Amino acid sequence: MSDGRPVGIFDSGVGGLTVAKQIRKLLPGEDIVYFGDTARVPYGTKSKETVTRFSVENVEFLMEKDVKLVVVACNTASSLGLDFLKRCFRVPIIGVIEPGARAAAAATRTKRVGVMGTNATISSGAYERAIRKIGPKISVVVRGCPLFVPLVEEGWLNKPVTRQVASEYLVPLKAARIDTLVMGCTHYPLLKEVIQGVMGPGVTLVDSAKEVAKEARNILDAAGLLNAPGRKGKDFFYVSDEPSRFIRMAERFLGKKIKCARRPV
Ligand code: DGL
Repeated sequence: MSDGRPVGIFDSGVGGLTVAKQIRKLLPGEDIVYFGDTARVPYGTKSKETVTRFSVENVEFLMEKDVKLVVVACNTASSLGLDFLKRCFRVPIIGVIEPGARAAAAATRTKRVGVMGTNATISSGAYERAIRKIGPKISVVVRGCPLFVPLVEEGWLNKPVTRQVASEYLVPLKAARIDTLVMGCTHYPLLKEVIQGVMGPGVTLVDSAKEVAKEARNILDAAGLLNAPGRKGKDFFYVSDEPSRFIRMAERFLGKKIKCARRPV
């Protein structure tokens, strides 16, 4: 059995390309339709109602592209809107929270886990709930790190100011002596080096993007929905605002150039 329909991914903007990159790596034969809601980014400062409404519209767009699976790459949209999306649409929809939580619960030895994210993700409590559901004895320490998003978008991945901001943010997580830290925002995998530098080598960093890619592969495989073997998948990028800034930043997130991104009419 095979299914040639594309995999749909959406994010509030460019950050979800960290997820697209991992999905491309694990599923080289799949076509990917990526939608970045660049006209309305950031989601991390917005309310549940607003993020959910935007997310529904994003999935509606992907459904027009006849996707076989929707991946909510945005941690904020996954935290605030995933349950509602699952009730609204018949296509399988997965978010980044549960896969990240599972990986963190499996990695921790001391049962002390930290989670970083946007303020909306952190105040939703979604990661804490998901981790405690798997390991009720795990204590979870959370920290909103909103300045990381603009630093990454500026390309300041390893500047002194970035290291200083990371040191400030990570104080409570270090004090809690966690051994596992979830990078619960699309942008944070690009700061892995800085975060690891501050936390030290004894802390395992969980990349939610990698975990959700594994989940996507497992779901498609189990449902017989993988593309025919030997096919080379294509990427299609759509954005809700003028594409040039997205195209420029995409290179940083994907580590390669993209030819074009379209703005749906
Ligand atoms: N994509 C968002 C997330 O993963 C970060 C950027 C934003 O605030 O929209 O939470």
